[in-house]
Amino acid sequence: MSQHDVDLKKRRFLTAAASVVGGAGAVMVAIPFVQYMTPSDRARAAGAPVEADISKLEAGQLIRVKWRGQPVWFVRRTEEMLKNLETLDPVMLDPDSAVEDQQPSYAQNKYRSIKDELLVAIGICTHLGCSPTFKPEVGGDLGPDWKGGFFCPCHGSIFDLAGRVYAGVPAPLNLKIPPHRYLSDTVIMIGEDEGAAS
Ligand code: FES
Repeated sequence: MSQHDVDLKKRRFLTAAASVVGGAGAVMVAIPFVQYMTPSDRARAAGAPVEADISKLEAGQLIRVKWRGQPVWFVRRTEEMLKNLETLDPVMLDPDSAVEDQQPSYAQNKYRSIKDELLVAIGICTHLGCSPTFKPEVGGDLGPDWKGGFFCPCHGSIFDLAGRVYAGVPAPLNLKIPPHRYLSDTVIMIGEDEGAAS
């Protein structure tokens, strides 16, 4: 056997040994991580319903809660915002929420919500998944015709304050409304509705 063959064998042995040590190391790192997750953390990661407290949410404001790794938005719409929504049907791609997968049946209505004033929506753009920015003001940097809504900075899609997508932008669908139900006036359960958990 030449010196070259010996070196080659040695190198192969060392590479194999290093892989085993690396593998054992990876397992040792993973175990504590799983152990530190409480049962509710694990349920949450798997998609368990989460409760959102909206008692501090004031008119015109938005708050976010995480569910299944996604931002869920809550917006308390003012009377003026609701009135403005009604004027936007002609410029919406799907004004009547005809695409059924984008909301539960109880949100397939004029304001895409259970209660008129409260929007609950998943804050992920239906184009390529960026999270749009809340732009509630009328006019402003989105032009004089802007009635308030959401602007996606990635490719410019725009949505109104019911999460409906404007026609002619890259996003092909309205924002998704998650299954939800009211536990009280100020607490909403996301991921579960009056029927079975979703
Ligand atoms: S990801 Fe929102 S417009 Fe492309």
